[in-house]
Formats: sequence, C-alpha cells, structure tokens
Amino acid sequence: MSTPTLEKSAASAESEAPAHLITVTFRVRRFNPEISDQATWQDFQLEIDPKERVLDGLHKIKWDHDGTLTFRRSCAHGICGSDAMRINGKNRLACKTLIKDINPSKPITVEPIKGLTVLKDLVVDMEPFFQAYRDVMPFLITKGNEPTRERLQSAEDRERFDDTTKCILCAACTSSCPVFWNDGQYFGPAAIVNAHRFIFDSRDEAGEQRLEILNDKDGVWRCRTTFNCTDACPRGIEVTKAIQEVKRALITRRF
Ligand code: SF4
Ligand code: FES
Repeated sequence: MSTPTLEKSAASAESEAPAHLITVTFRVRRFNPEISDQATWQDFQLEIDPKERVLDGLHKIKWDHDGTLTFRRSCAHGICGSDAMRINGKNRLACKTLIKDINPSKPITVEPIKGLTVLKDLVVDMEPFFQAYRDVMPFLITKGNEPTRERLQSAEDRERFDDTTKCILCAACTSSCPVFWNDGQYFGPAAIVNAHRFIFDSRDEAGEQRLEILNDKDGVWRCRTTFNCTDACPRGIEVTKAIQEVKRALITRRF
C-alpha cells in the first residue's frame, strides 16, 4: 500500500520543481584571441533556481549551452579564490553570489576582473598579481638557530594580524583599485595585505625589509584610500585599514 504514496510524492515533487525556477539572462563578456581581438557580450537564457549561485549559472552555460565558455573555479565554496569576476559591475566571487541577491529580473552581467590582461572570456593573466605577492616575501623569516620547540606567541600578538590571515588571494581588491587600473606597477592591496600579515607577526624578523619594499614608488604611498578594496573583499578583510597601518609603520617604524 505504501508504494503508490511514494510514487505520488515523487511525481508531485517533480511537477513542483519547475515552479522554483526562474528565467534569467546571463550577459557574459566573451573574448577569444584566436577569433577576434575584440571582446563582445553574449546573452544566455537560463532556467535556474534563484537560490543557486552565479557559478551554477556559468556551469549551466558551459555544460548545456556553450562548452567553449572559459572561467576559473576550483573549490566552489569561497576558499580557493579562483573565481573572482565582475558581476553586475562589482567584484565578487561567483561561488558566493546568489542569483536572488543580484536582481535577476534584469540581465546579470558577468565580465573579467579589471586591470589584468584577459586571456580568454573570464580568465585573466594573474602573473603580475602573484609577482607582487611574491615580492613582499609572504612567509615567516627569522634569524639565528632553529628553535627546539614551537615559536610562542601571545593571543594578543596573534590578534594583531588576525584579519590579514584571511586572505584567499582572489584579487578582487587589487582589481577594483583605480590606481592599479591606471598603472599595473602598483603592488596593489592584496600584496600589502599579505605583507601586513608578516610585518605585524611578533615571530617574524623581516618587517623592516618588507617595509622598505613597500616604501618604493610603486608601494603603499600610491594608495588613494578609495576603499574600493575593502568593499570588494569577499572575506570581509579591512583592506584599507591594513594599508593605513603599513603606512603608519613606515613613518613610525613601530610595528
Ligand atoms: S584581501 Fe580580500 S579581496 Fe584582496 S585578495 Fe585577499 S581575500 Fe581577495
Ligand atoms: S571557486 Fe573557490 S573561491 Fe569560488
């Protein structure tokens, strides 16, 4: 007797499912240097649950409409930082942006982050970004002999740089910075955030070196405090504050 009930609920679930779907236009910036040196917009109509994410929409396009659509993603859960893109004109992670939160009644625009060379569709050349990151030596540097036990640190000292440990190197901050757009030589907010993470670490002994690197003409003094970076950060890092703290450390030499 139970079988018909199960069949009935399965059938009703099936018939209800489409009611959750809405029709959304994804307006995607396309670029393929093998076809044209001009980027163009392409529209895709999708039937999608508004509780799904922009990344799910891009997957639907790639899997069901156009397999040539090219974008980066890995974890799909806001951890790897690989899917930062401009969605409705604002830098966001596609995997953390719900369709329902970005006015799906209008076309949703998706384009690559700015200030870095577009290689194909939504994929940019991240090498300048990672070079700036490498330049600030984002690793613990100590002098003297190896300790025989772990390097101790008070909770208070750890708290000093807690915010900047959260960076996932997505480049949303750097690629939202007008100074970086105008001159890709600027280290950019993300590199400064990652320098901050070690400059203010009581166990590290290369703070002065990092400060000197950022004292460069392409370093922290280029920051115009527009707060774009703080607004763009998907990890909620107070990026502008970190940059200000590095500036202050350069003046006072206290960190
Ligand atoms: S500071 Fe925030 S926006 Fe910038 S790279 Fe790190 S996580 Fe991304
Ligand atoms: S795919 Fe990893 S952060 Fe979005």
